[in-house]
Formats: sequence, C-alpha cells, structure tokens
Amino acid sequence: FSPLVDAVDHPHPPDHASHSPHHPTQMRAQQPTFNTKKLCIVMVGLPARGKTHIAQCLQRYLNWLGFKTAVFNVGNYRRMMLGGNQPADFFDPENQQGVRARMELAVECMNDMVEWFSNGGLVGIYDATNSTKIRRSMVKTRLENVGVRVLFLESLCTDPNIVEKNIIETKLRSPDYRHADPEEAVSDFKKRIELYNNSSETVEDSENTSYIKIVNVGRQMILNDIQGFAQGKIVSFLLNSHIMARSIYLSRHGESEWNVTGQLGGDPKLTDRGRAYAQCLSKFIDAEFTKKGKELPLVWTSQLQRTRQTVEHIPTMNVRWRALNEIDAGICEGMTYESVADKLPQVARARKHDKLKYRYPGGESYVDVITRLEPVILEVERQRGPVLIVAHNAVIRAIYAYFMGKSQEECPYIDIPLHTVFRLTTRAYGAEEQLFPLEVAHTYQNKTPESCDSSDEQAERANDNTVTQLENGLHDTKIG
Ligand code: ATP
Ligand code: F6P
Repeated sequence: FSPLVDAVDHPHPPDHASHSPHHPTQMRAQQPTFNTKKLCIVMVGLPARGKTHIAQCLQRYLNWLGFKTAVFNVGNYRRMMLGGNQPADFFDPENQQGVRARMELAVECMNDMVEWFSNGGLVGIYDATNSTKIRRSMVKTRLENVGVRVLFLESLCTDPNIVEKNIIETKLRSPDYRHADPEEAVSDFKKRIELYNNSSETVEDSENTSYIKIVNVGRQMILNDIQGFAQGKIVSFLLNSHIMARSIYLSRHGESEWNVTGQLGGDPKLTDRGRAYAQCLSKFIDAEFTKKGKELPLVWTSQLQRTRQTVEHIPTMNVRWRALNEIDAGICEGMTYESVADKLPQVARARKHDKLKYRYPGGESYVDVITRLEPVILEVERQRGPVLIVAHNAVIRAIYAYFMGKSQEECPYIDIPLHTVFRLTTRAYGAEEQLFPLEVAHTYQNKTPESCDSSDEQAERANDNTVTQLENGLHDTKIG
C-alpha cells in the first residue's frame, strides 16, 4: 500500500481549454491530477446523534462529484459478527468482555477500510462513536501511518428532544430491536447512550487534528484546521444541508418539436402534446399543493423555452437557471443520433466508449454537466420546502442520480421518460421515489444513442451487461 498516492483531489475539474472543435477524437475531458492525500472522515458522537445519517449523505454527495467514497460502519460489523441483539450492558465500559469484543470489531472494520484505500478508495468514512480520546488517537495513528489524512466530524446534541426524536425515528426500526417492545427498546437504547456518556470526551484542539463539530443539528458549526479541496467541499455541503423531510419534484419538459424529429439540443418549442403536458403538470401541482392547502413549491427551469413553456400554467414565479440547460452537444446540436453515427462516426464511437467523460466537440460531457449542477444541488439542499425542477434529459438524470445515490457511471443511462413527474422524498438515510406518469401521449420514443446502435452492437452490449451483473452478484455474495 503506497501511502502517499497522488490521488485526484477534484476528480474532473472543468477543462474548457483542452478541446478544439475540429478534432473530435481528442475531446475526452482531460483529468489533471492534484497532489492530494486520501482522506478519512472519522465520525464522533454518542449514539443517536445522526452520525450514520451524515455519513450516508456525505457518501452520496462525494460519490456523485466523482470522489470514490465508502462508509465503514462498525455497528454493521457487530450485527454481522455477533448478531443484532446485544443488550445495553455489552456497551458498558466496565464489561471487559464487551470492551474487548468492541475493540476487535473496530479493528476489523478499520482493516477493511485500509485495504479499500489501498485499492483506490479516495474518501473513507469511519462510522463509529469514537467517543474517547484514546480511541481517536489509535484511529488517527493507524490512518496517518498509511498516509491517509484524518478529519474528525463530531455531532453533539445538548437538546434531549432531538435525541428522543432520533431514537424513535431510526433506532426502533434498527435490526438491533427487530422483535423488541418499543418502550423497552427506547429505554435500552437510552441506557446504551448513558453508558457511552460516562466515558465520552469531545474532540479538543490538544488532539492536534482537523475537525468539524456540528452542534444541535447545525445550529452551530465549529471548524478547526480545514485543509484541501475535498474538506472545503465537505464543509460547504454540511453548511447547506438540513434534516427536514420534504419532496423534490423532477420532470423533463413536455414533448418538443425536436423530440419528434429526434434532433439533439437546440431551443425548440413544445408540440401540442407537450403543451397538453404543461396543462396536466399544472393540474398535478394544484392537486398536490393548493387543494391540500399547501403553499406552492419553488419552480426552477432552465433558460430554454421548452422548460419555461412547461411551467407556464403553474401560478407562481419561476427561477431560470442557466445551469439547468441541457447538455451542450457542441457540433452535434441539431443533428439526430443517426446522422451523428453517419457523418461523425468517430464522435459516436468515442461517446459510446465513455459516455460519462466524453465531451462533445465544442460542447460538454456528463461530468461537465454534473460539475455545473453542483450549485443547484447545494441550493436544493439549503431549501426547507419542496422544489419542482423542470429541465432536460441529461440534467434530470444527473439530479436524480444525486438524490437516489446512483454512481457517476450509471448516470448517463438512467431512464427518465417524458411526461412523467418523479417525486423524491428525503428521509433519514436516503430518498424515497414515486413516479407519476401524467396521461399525455407523446410520439417521442425516448431515443438514446444506445437504442440507435446496430442490432449487433445492441446484442454485444446485452452480453456485457450480463457479465457485469454476474460480477456484481459475485461481489455481493462476497460481502454478504
Ligand atoms: P448510532 O451510534 O447508534 O449508530 P448515529 O449517531 O449513527 O447512531 P443515526 O442512526 O444517524 O445516529 O440517527 C439518525 C437520526 O439522526 C435521523 O433521525 C436524523 O434525522 C438525525 N440526524 C441527522 N443529522 C443529525 C445531526 N447533525 N444531529 C442530530 N441528529 C441528526
Ligand atoms: O433527445 C433529447 C435530449 O435532451 C438531447 O437534447 C440531448 O442531447 C440528449 O437528450 C441527452 O441524452 P444522451 O446523453 O443519452 O444523448
């Protein structure tokens, strides 16, 4: 394991200078590397302080940005190795057997994380209480010895109501209390917290470390010695996010004239069917909000007329974001997939080879789209109420991928049908999805470059997918 890996700090920085519209095969986004060490975010805090929730949100955000990130949860190792039904006494610092067992589990989990770092992981999140100085010092020494930078992320709650709510919201559903009586489960969990509380110590400057402290769900945030690009991203994400459940509505624009002709990009108008969808969308929003006595959501569109026309019957102001414009297909704007394959076969081939990173000559790649959407994501995170985003195929794919925890690699292939509203509701540990296909027919066949391949190419891809599924299956079996 080489400790000082020259990892990519910002994995895909925008690189607009690197392309020339006349050499399509040279258009792959360049990926300059920055000298950045690998990073471990070490969670700190008593039970039911939201550590797992925060860890999962950060994992989703950092992976979406292209930092290879994984959470290593010591509690899962305990459940896997000793079963989920350990009583509170197991966590008693006076119980020598329990102390030894917990240390072994923590080490096992740490070993796996170190191995993962050596296999190319960039940001590891070590999710455990790590509530004593001695434990933190051991964790820090181990990680620094293998060249991984450490950032402690502590969640502190002085408000007992927050803790009570967290226990009821998440712990009662935990495998630890699957068959337990709810009242007994709450009292057992509170006993567990008390046992940890007796020996817990907050992170101090004398520990000579970078840290972030989040107090009472973000009412206060304390930062110490924050270094580097990834840590800056983490701070700005935490400053913008909150834990209130709310819904995000996503939709592509109604059918446009170019959807019918199969042309890429441009700024076409809606067809009659697209305008009918705009009416239906307004009725849907009316039924979801006004009829239920709720305030209308914020409505965000791109600057292109097909999205603006799609929201024109919703009786509220809308914000037009340039960042929500469709992927720029550069010299292929206005062409169909078939004419690209015919006239610019090298472009079609190169994009097919790496659809995520391939940048259209004079245009953008999916990675470029994700990069420019980051401020939109932070702004949605900051909002406490619902938001309706009406945009385009590639853009909705990228936003959906963020909320549903899909990897960058999956993003360009997510199926986002026309005339369908996606409602994503944020919850502790992830979002729930519901689809509302509104009853307006469209002629558009949801063409993708893949569906325009020759039948031989389609057969070849189906074969590749089977191999990937088999590999994933094997991987899953190994983990389980
Ligand atoms: P344990 O140590 O038992 O695993 P934990 O600290 O990991 O507990 P979680 O399981 O993440 O706690 O608790 C989830 C709950 O925490 C959710 O209800 C979520 O809304 C809430 N939560 C999320 N962020 C915070 C925060 N910064 N402070 C307090 N609670 C939070
Ligand atoms: O076809 C509609 C469209 O929004 C085009 O304007 C855009 O180029 C395309 O979808 C993006 O999809 P893909 O990345 O699969 O080509």
